[in-house]
Amino acid sequence: MPKVALYAGSFDPITNGHTDLIKRSLGFVDTLVVAVAVNLQKQSLFTVEEREALIRASLDDDPRVVVRSFQGLLVEFALSLDVPVLIRGLRAVSDYEYEYQMALMNRHLAPAMETVFMVPSLDTTYISSSMVREVARFGGDIRSLVHPVVAEALQRKFAEG
Ligand code: COA
Repeated sequence: MPKVALYAGSFDPITNGHTDLIKRSLGFVDTLVVAVAVNLQKQSLFTVEEREALIRASLDDDPRVVVRSFQGLLVEFALSLDVPVLIRGLRAVSDYEYEYQMALMNRHLAPAMETVFMVPSLDTTYISSSMVREVARFGGDIRSLVHPVVAEALQRKFAEG
């Protein structure tokens, strides 16, 4: 049976922290579904389609990565694809409480669904999408934080606005 897991997030935009985790996950799964959560309450910089395209580009169109988007509950989306494992990253102790609560809530909703917590590389633990957006907005250097395609997309976005 091929091993499949799902890694969800807002990915607004995808950063080197996310790609680090995706590449680590591909060390033990055959296919990773990277799922862009569509949160209508959260104002995003990039459209869902742009976020999906940036994810594919950041992973050099790796055929083992399947990019999708979803609305609603994460576990329902995972179940609809027959994916039994959710991947989450724990960057710092401060992530733990929220992640633990979310994993238990997801288990309550779908008892057979397992959550696997992964430790990202130390040099990416301080990166978040909102900080990358903020640095890019004010013209700071983001080249070591995101894929060049994402850096270019951010530059374009802020030049437009
Ligand atoms: N490296 C770098 N940054 C990382 C990272 C990593 N390994 N992991 C997370 N981040 C960053 C993200 O960029 C994000 O930054 P931002 O807040 O500046 O945008 C931040 O950490 C939070 O990421 P994450 O915890 O993945 O939140 P998210 O909003 O991207 O995604 C969902 C959360 C979508 C998985 C979750 O809200 C969800 O499942 N929603 C669907 C509804 C549902 O089922 N809820 C659960 C029921 S309890």
